[in-house]
Parts: sequence; structure tokens; C-alpha cells
Amino acid sequence: TKTEYNRATEKLFKVIIIGDPGAGKTSFIRRYVQNAFRGDYKATIGVDFALKIVRWSENQTIKLQLWDIAGQERFTWMTRVYYKEAQGCIIMFDLTSRNSFKNAVKWKKDVDSKCFLEDGAPVPCMLLANKCDLQEREVDQWEIETLCREHGFIGWTETSAKDDLMVGDCMRFLIEIMMKYN
Ligand code: GTP
Ligand code: MG
Repeated sequence: TKTEYNRATEKLFKVIIIGDPGAGKTSFIRRYVQNAFRGDYKATIGVDFALKIVRWSENQTIKLQLWDIAGQERFTWMTRVYYKEAQGCIIMFDLTSRNSFKNAVKWKKDVDSKCFLEDGAPVPCMLLANKCDLQEREVDQWEIETLCREHGFIGWTETSAKDDLMVGDCMRFLIEIMMKYN
């Protein structure tokens, strides 16, 4: 009925996804939004957008505007523009690349220096350790745990865009946090 419709609420959140080239940001979003995966690598140029509509509860719908930001350095000069008014952030690294793990800290500092919530608080950032389907890991769990704690991430988990591991779960976690903050 009309009254029920009026009571329904809709929220829009802007979420940025950043991290080194090849970490799997585009693949993660493709898995989350289209439930699909591609094995070939086509680097993102600048930024790509995706929209995901989540039925959160009976009378609450959430629209996620996902900003899939290129990791390649020749595009990162634009990050200040891309980060503007983000309400949530995902920083992704590749478990098989130690370098991408180390750079997660750089990405975190980049966000924290350029972007804040309306009340001046840092943007909630989740750390994702992607490609957990692969054997040849270069990072241990305790190292991730430590980095997560020391650099003020809201939490971390291993994910696989390829095998669809923890993709929906970690997004639900991020949404819950964004609902509390906004
Ligand atoms: P940029 O756009 O350059 O910043 O890279 P990206 O972070 O968007 O990486 P992308 O999603 O394009 O993935 C890079 C490569 O890793 C592709 O060949 C993907 O197929 C592969 N890949 C992504 N996620 C996974 C995963 O969970 N497991 C495995 N095995 N491969 C993955
Ligand atoms: Mg990409």
C-alpha cells in the first residue's frame, strides 16, 4: 500500500575500492555485482563505476555506488577527486604479492590525508586480502592482523573473487559499519 511505500527508506553510500594494480579490485566488484569472473587482466583506466542495490531489510534498500579506482600510478594523481565524499573504503592487496601488501599502508595514508566523513572522522576502511584461492602466499595472517590494527582499519578478511569467498559477507560487514556512521 501507499503508506507502506512511504515508510520504506533508501540510502545511498559511496564506496571507493583502492589498492595496487592487479590486486583484484575490478574482479571483486564484478563478482559482487554480476556474480561473474574473468581470468584475463585488463587494467582499469582512471575509474569505473558500478551500482549495487541491496535489500537490507523489509523496508530498507541500500544503493552502493562503487568506485573502482585504477591502481596504476599514472592514474593515481586523480585520487583526491575520486575519494571525495566517500562513506566507505576498501583497500585490497594480493596475498601472493608482498609488495601489494606493503603498499596497503600507503593507500590507507592516502585516503586518510585526503578524505573525511562529514564530522571529520576518518572514512571506515576495510582491508581485503584477495586471491586466497592461490597456494603461493607471500603474507602471513598475523602480519595482516598486525597491520590492520596498527593502521586503523575496521577489519580485514581473506577473499577470493575467483571462487566467490567472503565477497558478499565482507560487503555486509562494511554496510553495517556505514549504517552506524551515517
Ligand atoms: P587495476 O585495475 O590495474 O588496478 O587492477 P585490479 O585490482 O582491478 O585487478 P583485476 O581485478 O583486473 O585482476 C587482476 C588479475 O587477477 C586478473 O587476471 C584476475 O583474473 C586475477 N584475479 C582477481 N581476483 C582473483 C582471485 O580472487 N583469485 C585469482 N586466482 N585470481 C584473481
Ligand atoms: Mg581494475
